[in-house]
Amino acid sequence: MLRVGIIGTGIISDLNYLGYYYSHDAEIVAVANLDKNEAIEKLKKWNLRKVRVYTDYKKMVDKEDLDIVEILTPHHLHYPMTEYCANAGVPGISVQKPMANTITDCVKMIEVCEEQNVKLKLYENFRFYPVYLRAKELLDQGIIGERLNFRINTIGTGGPSWPLGINSYLWRINIDMCGGGPWIYDDGQHKFSVALWLMDEERVEKVYSWIDYFTGVMDTPANIFWKYPSKNSDDPPKYGTMEFSLAPNVYYPSNYYNCDEFIEISGTKGIMWINQSTSGGNFVSKSPQYPPIAVYANGEVKTYGEDLPRDWKYSFINSTEHFIEIIKSGKGEPIYTGEQGKNLCIFAKMPYISDQRGEIVYWEEINAEKEENGSCTVEKSEDADESGLSKYGRRIKKDLRKGIKEGLKHKKFIYEFEQ
Ligand SMILES: NC(=O)c1ccc[n+]([C@@H]2O[C@H](COP(=O)([O-])OP(=O)(O)OC[C@H]3O[C@@H](n4cnc5c(N)ncnc54)[C@H](O)[C@@H]3O)[C@@H](O)[C@H]2O)c1
Repeated sequence: MLRVGIIGTGIISDLNYLGYYYSHDAEIVAVANLDKNEAIEKLKKWNLRKVRVYTDYKKMVDKEDLDIVEILTPHHLHYPMTEYCANAGVPGISVQKPMANTITDCVKMIEVCEEQNVKLKLYENFRFYPVYLRAKELLDQGIIGERLNFRINTIGTGGPSWPLGINSYLWRINIDMCGGGPWIYDDGQHKFSVALWLMDEERVEKVYSWIDYFTGVMDTPANIFWKYPSKNSDDPPKYGTMEFSLAPNVYYPSNYYNCDEFIEISGTKGIMWINQSTSGGNFVSKSPQYPPIAVYANGEVKTYGEDLPRDWKYSFINSTEHFIEIIKSGKGEPIYTGEQGKNLCIFAKMPYISDQRGEIVYWEEINAEKEENGSCTVEKSEDADESGLSKYGRRIKKDLRKGIKEGLKHKKFIYEFEQ
């Protein structure tokens, strides 16, 4: 049985623990959190009361002879925690996305894990979402021909959704801790991941973007454009776009965050639409108009994925199971590797640098050396105003109350979990 330790028992640990909880090959033996009570409460909730709790993660690593450590902490801690675990001889380290707040730290994480022969996983779960896996299979079979254009719109809705504590926000709006902003650098990692994976690409050539700070501190709304590199001179050009939209009066239930993702991919002989991810399984993707996947090709529309589990939690369970298998068998590479994790951080920094400079940014302009000379540092926007978040929060609540008064159908903030 593989021995697993978790560092950080905040919001996302509620989904990261699941794959281990249900595994026959691994078990959670210890957790570490600065706040002991928070950890104890989590263990009660997970029905794992006997698991040991540490307030110092180093002590947990030193004492527990762990096979896997799961790092679920703010981004600026990913490197020092990875370094400590690798040097202490933990053979499998899984770090939640983004890999780190800087590219420099990503490079150091890769180096120390290589030196210590550690399997380093960058944990990006959209890559394992059942509907996306089916979409990828269809795309690889050539259902829309050659992939030409990728579009993903992330819409921040009015919920109802997970209640989030202020502590989970505070470090995210601190650029030094986060590495960018809460939407593009943090949440966006998932979107950059599928923008590469579904399009069968490893990186992009160049990016242009506009980022507004309408809510005061959050990096939204935003529009980001990129070009994928040409592999052969006679290849058709390939592009992608990513939007972050705020729609505070769009209400539908999410088991998790109050946002959702809608993808459109056009190819030489067809178009694919993928409806929902984070809030998948609610009535939008259960409606005949918006099935999980719709494809138009050869003169007809076909739908796919209605049979698949659509709760977002399955992306976590699948991702964790994959890593357990890698560590258990000692064979294969994690999804993602450290190098791929670093690439996602580069991609996710490019929009900020483009917005700061008001010009196109090339992939080669974002790296550890350029961080060293200060030429690719994400800076706090002049538009960012910390009082704006609470103003925006108050406005959403007021709008919701108004919506309920006017007969909003989904007024109960409850969503039945798919079991
Ligand atoms: N895959 C996803 O969809 C997803 C979603 C949310 C968050 N995340 C990622 O997960 C990570 C954690 O995010 P979160 O939302 O759970 O944050 P959070 O703020 O809710 O939780 C962070 C936890 O880390 C703990 N912590 C901080 N410093 C520590 C230390 N020195 N030792 C031990 N514990 C420490 C805090 O006490 C807290 O429990 C981040 O990398 C974030 O980007 C991923």
